Amino acid sequence: MTNTILVIMGSVRAQRHNPVLARWVAAIGQATTGVTFELVDLADWSLPMDDEPAIPATGGYVQPHTQAWSAKIADAAAFVFVTPQYNWGYPAALKNAIDHCYAEWRDKPLLIVTYGGHGGGKCAAQLVQVAEALKMRVVPTMPALTLARAMIEGSPIKAEIDFAEQRAEIEGACSTLVAMIGG
Ligand SMILES: Cc1cc2nc3c(=O)[nH]c(=O)nc-3n(C[C@H](O)[C@H](O)[C@H](O)COP(=O)(O)O)c2cc1C
Repeated sequence: MTNTILVIMGSVRAQRHNPVLARWVAAIGQATTGVTFELVDLADWSLPMDDEPAIPATGGYVQPHTQAWSAKIADAAAFVFVTPQYNWGYPAALKNAIDHCYAEWRDKPLLIVTYGGHGGGKCAAQLVQVAEALKMRVVPTMPALTLARAMIEGSPIKAEIDFAEQRAEIEGACSTLVAMIGG
């Protein structure tokens, strides 16, 4: 296993805001801790929902894309999910990526960063429940970025300006995440 922390981008939507926010969180994490925070864009990973004969908990993957995803997750020391709230939950692409593995997530620290019209707290709550099933260790602080109506309607986000007040919270949460590695 490497010391790398994977920042998994929860949205694959066309015209998504996610890359701006995920890049910002990754940069803060790396600058604060000195550890590598690597972006993982789920749009770059084709993970069909119907082509593995065994359940992921067996680890018996037959498809090369599942094997590659498994190796990617197994190699990481910890994770950050940067994800929007969709209909009071989290995006299907993120659930699909999570459910392609099982043991690869187990016991590892997870920081949840959400965004949405009210910050995405309901999405975070659902992810905490899923993380519990995977025996992941969730950072207690879950930064929630509230998008202005204009942003939801498509106005560009300048994360370092628009969410400057939450930078310290994200720095602290990233430090906690790194401190939890190996614990
Ligand atoms: C399918 C869908 C469902 C949404 N549901 C919610 C929601 O429940 N709560 C919320 O605050 N915003 C909701 N929104 C607005 C998103 O917070 C906003 O569009 C955000 O930019 C989505 O992230 P993305 O641009 O990275 O995909 C929803 C957006 C989409 C596309």
